[in-house]
Amino acid sequence: MSQVERIGVSLEKDLLAAFDGLIAKRGYPSRSEALRNLIRREIGAEQLGRPEAMAVAAVFLVYNHHSTKLMSMLTGLQHSHLLQTISSLHIHLDQHDCLEVIVLRGQVSEINKTAEHLISLKGVKLGRINLLAIEGA
Ligand code: NI
Repeated sequence: MSQVERIGVSLEKDLLAAFDGLIAKRGYPSRSEALRNLIRREIGAEQLGRPEAMAVAAVFLVYNHHSTKLMSMLTGLQHSHLLQTISSLHIHLDQHDCLEVIVLRGQVSEINKTAEHLISLKGVKLGRINLLAIEGA
């Protein structure tokens, strides 16, 4: 753990009251923990704007498992992007649909390219990508 430094922050009373309300609502144990979290989130969001930044991502895909071609395409894509694929999880949602969560690691631009390729495959009903910057986390 890096060295901790104390800082003083001046805030308007109304803003502090609103911040304390947010802290209570979200269940943070202290203002310091809430501030650290918010600062990391903003820094992470800034990093995601750089295509070469390192990140991890969860790609969520809902698809009909009767599209047998899709299943083999998904597996093929994961093998062809082996360096980026950390793990994947398959859940049978109902009689027809499956949820696949694929965890990728790499540069933001590469992750986005792979994820968009996966989401655009024929048979995918819903797709979403959640990215987290991991530099300096
Ligand atoms: Ni399934």
